[in-house]
Amino acid sequence: MNWKRKRVFITGASGFLGSWLTQDLIEKGAYVVALIRDGNPQSMLVRSGLIKEIAVVQGTLEDFLTVERAVAEYQVDTVFHLGAQAIVGVAQVLPLQTFESNIRGSYHLLEACKRHEVERVVVASSDKAYGESVVLPYTEDMPLRGRYPYDVSKSCTDLLAQAYYHTYGLPVGIARCGNIYGGGDLNFSRLIPGSILSLYENQRPVVRSDGLYTRDYIYVKDVVLAYLLLAEGLGERGGQAFNFAPERPYTVLEVLTEIKRLMAKEIEPVILNKAKGEIIQQNLDATKAREFLGWKPLYSLEKGLEETIQWYQEFLGGMR
Ligand SMILES: NC(=O)c1ccc[n+]([C@@H]2O[C@H](COP(=O)([O-])OP(=O)(O)OC[C@H]3O[C@@H](n4cnc5c(N)ncnc54)[C@H](O)[C@@H]3O)[C@@H](O)[C@H]2O)c1
Repeated sequence: MNWKRKRVFITGASGFLGSWLTQDLIEKGAYVVALIRDGNPQSMLVRSGLIKEIAVVQGTLEDFLTVERAVAEYQVDTVFHLGAQAIVGVAQVLPLQTFESNIRGSYHLLEACKRHEVERVVVASSDKAYGESVVLPYTEDMPLRGRYPYDVSKSCTDLLAQAYYHTYGLPVGIARCGNIYGGGDLNFSRLIPGSILSLYENQRPVVRSDGLYTRDYIYVKDVVLAYLLLAEGLGERGGQAFNFAPERPYTVLEVLTEIKRLMAKEIEPVILNKAKGEIIQQNLDATKAREFLGWKPLYSLEKGLEETIQWYQEFLGGMR
């Protein structure tokens, strides 16, 4: 699909994934409209100057009139819904705000898209939407059984997207990714940015769990590609969900060992073993994305981490 002059609305555009997706769409010639809640000078979108090349609608997903105005006034044809309270630990402390952003925010967005006949909508769900399962890897036909606040909010987001397709025919695709990593993620409570920051400062990285929790780790550029392919393939596959992951899960300690090796730091982590309300083991089967969307990850963990570490070294080195 040619993205030139496509009118694309991105929620959460100044966040981690949103910044990379916005950058790629601008490079492809799209006209980007962004819903931005918080002004953050450290956001990649702001620091790169890209924010000056897009239309910015200030506001929240909870404000339906603002969301609807953005969709209708800018006559958008494509929507990427990334805006969410995206941190598991914050969701435990702030469940109401998380449900407002992620559940109310999602049905507001979907309703605005339905009313104004948006041609394609991609919604960020998550591997967390599946909840805990003894059967792994997850495949797309497995039930969504989130149990903890963030996970439940993502099960709901996912189901709401399906409801808008099955009831109103809204052309929506659902992305279920494992843990995304890459430069530009300012959520330093996450394993990879937090560990790189600690090691950069010659401090011991802190592991909340026992270090054996297992996840997929997917490089942000592979995710941008996945979201674009999903949007492009929506014609035949509306209402469907796709898993995206490199299909090689790692434990927290394995990821940490790789970061230490790449940064040449021999500093042992502090293992708190205090994680609560988090799924212990998760990994996704991405056969459907490979077969039907032609997607495959281009980055190994090593290659992705190399680029990521370089990004943070430049970012942290340039900070006052
Ligand atoms: N990063 C991951 O590992 C991962 C994995 C799977 C799914 N996801 C999903 O991908 C999406 C993007 O994640 P991210 O890592 O870029 O997160 P992020 O926290 O970097 O970005 C989220 C953005 O959403 C905005 N936002 C939050 N609540 C809002 C509200 N109520 N109204 C308007 N904007 C609001 C924030 O200001 C932020 O800019 C999220 O939906 C997340 O749940 C992320």
